[in-house]
Amino acid sequence: MKAVHVLNGPNLNLLGTREPETYGLATLADIEARLSALCKPRRIILHFRQSNHEGDLVTWVQEAGRAGEPVILNAGAYSHTSIALYDAIKAAKTEVIEVHLSNIHAREDFRRQSLISPVARGVILGFGAFSYDLALEAFLARTEAAGNLSYRKQIMRSVSHAQKHSWQRRKRE
Ligand code: DQA
Repeated sequence: MKAVHVLNGPNLNLLGTREPETYGLATLADIEARLSALCKPRRIILHFRQSNHEGDLVTWVQEAGRAGEPVILNAGAYSHTSIALYDAIKAAKTEVIEVHLSNIHAREDFRRQSLISPVARGVILGFGAFSYDLALEAFLARTEAAGNLSYRKQIMRSVSHAQKHSWQRRKRE
């Protein structure tokens, strides 16, 4: 994974002061700093953005899709309303993890449905600002597991190559 896009929807610019009993005290800048600290040592480029406009989020999902780079998306209230984001995620040739700070299933009825969950790779919610860290960890674990798999495949290939040669040698002797 060379880069990751962390996209934040409406009102998330107010984190820190907005309903702290629900969303916690961490600001969006705090969240960005934490993710940046996880990305830097791994040389992963972090594109961290926020907008109050649905179309911006659609455009950024499309951009990440074109680049084939994974997305961590907290679409805020648009999670519950946006068919445009559903379509953008569905069309994007990349994985999207949906995150929420709060447990939307333990809140008002209108928050219990997310239109984007069905097209997300996975959903992480209810862990406050830590939901973002967990989403990034999920991508990192998947990348590292894929790396290990290709490393294991390489080893298996060289082992079977060596076995084949020693078998052929024994046959000649
Ligand atoms: C939110 C939950 C949404 O229902 C709400 O509109 C938000 C924040 C969360 O992170 O918990 O803006 O996405």
